[in-house]
Amino acid sequence: MPLLIRNGELVTADARGRADIYVADETITRIGGDLEAPPGTEVIDAAGKYVFPGFIDPHVHIYLPFMATFAKDTHETASIAALVGGTTTYIEMCCPSRTDDALAAYELWKGKAEGKSACDYTFHMAVSKYTDETEGQLREIVRDGISSFKIFLAYKNFFGVDDGEMYQALALARKLGVIVTAHCENAELVAQLQQELLRAGRTGPEWHEASRPETVEAEGTHHFATFLENTGATGYVVHLSCEGALKAALAAKERGVRMHVEAVIPHLMLNKTYAERPGVEGMKHVMSPPLRARRNQGVLWNALNAGLIDTVGTDHCPFDTGQKLLGREAFTQIPNGIPGIEERVNLLYTYGVKRGKLDLHRFVDAASTRAAKLFGLFPRKGTIAVGGDADLVVFDPEYRGTISALGQHVNNDYNGFEGMPIEGRAAVVTVRGKVQVRAGEFVGERGRGQLLKREPSHL
Ligand code: URP
Ligand code: ZN
Ligand code: ZN
Repeated sequence: MPLLIRNGELVTADARGRADIYVADETITRIGGDLEAPPGTEVIDAAGKYVFPGFIDPHVHIYLPFMATFAKDTHETASIAALVGGTTTYIEMCCPSRTDDALAAYELWKGKAEGKSACDYTFHMAVSKYTDETEGQLREIVRDGISSFKIFLAYKNFFGVDDGEMYQALALARKLGVIVTAHCENAELVAQLQQELLRAGRTGPEWHEASRPETVEAEGTHHFATFLENTGATGYVVHLSCEGALKAALAAKERGVRMHVEAVIPHLMLNKTYAERPGVEGMKHVMSPPLRARRNQGVLWNALNAGLIDTVGTDHCPFDTGQKLLGREAFTQIPNGIPGIEERVNLLYTYGVKRGKLDLHRFVDAASTRAAKLFGLFPRKGTIAVGGDADLVVFDPEYRGTISALGQHVNNDYNGFEGMPIEGRAAVVTVRGKVQVRAGEFVGERGRGQLLKREPSHL
């Protein structure tokens, strides 16, 4: 059914104004004042509301075998949570371990999503080792429409690559024009510090941060930058958490390294005292890089507003209370991850835009447009333009609520942001012209989501 969104205030990364949007089939066909609604058109009145481009989460984990267990979501639960939170596209990390075959893993990850996701999606393909087969396999995956890789400098012997493997992955990415996303913590330092802490009887979640201090992330970021510099590849640092790592990234950019930076919502909203809470409460707030000392949050918000941090993702990675308790004897066994796919946009709006820390256009840019541009989705996604997919968020700035695990759509038994007030939320959300969320509730079609094919764009 055609759709007309009337009277809303359209906000993109670089423009703002009152206009109507007409959608035929799956794309936007007209934008203008007082558009006609032909018979059979569904009309949505967006008076008093913003209309944003559908938000894009560039970093989520849905199917993830990790730390002796599996992340809790399915594409059905994660995509419904995403949509209720205003996210219409996510990019999942396809993460084979070092013992897995890359191509088989890619097929497995695709199979988990196909016909299940209610929103559109694509993958970053992790390169967890580099063997004689790797180049051919990666070329095949890129031909299939995946134009971004992932490497882990952390998680020694599981996802982590060594320097030789990193060099080869980046050299191939450079040739193919593929952007490489990277988790930047020095794996060897983490392993040594973890063992030292455990030997000293420091086993609780409050020691997780001490096992991966800011210098370890700064070193990892500098290390990645040096490899980018010497291969000419384009990189993207995921979940950058602290000032030291930011300085390393900015120094690299200044000397011409093609490096982009992502922050994630837990590091913007939470500090390390959350992981210092006794027992399982602390464990719920264990992720890597860890939640940091509070002073880093101001640094991240400022850099985000200035555009020095490009994007805001979630690193959504749900493990329930029982799974977190796998680490009751040792913090090194706590499954790492804090979910946030449902909360990201509302938190960014409330604690960024509403608190005067984030310009409204930068908000749209960081949560949608910039990811679309970096990852080969623009202008189909990430903006409001004739010819683009009708992924739209009618956002109600008057809504008031409180984040709670009760009624959340993510498949988990707690919420890491429990009790935080929010000011504003997605009221109506469309995916390629179909209303998937109405009055803040999922009303849509499960399995509507498509795998987005992307071309390499970093030659
Ligand atoms: O703690 C985290 N970040 N869990 C997910 C895996 C990763 O490192 O992104
Ligand atoms: Zn990571
Ligand atoms: Zn991650």
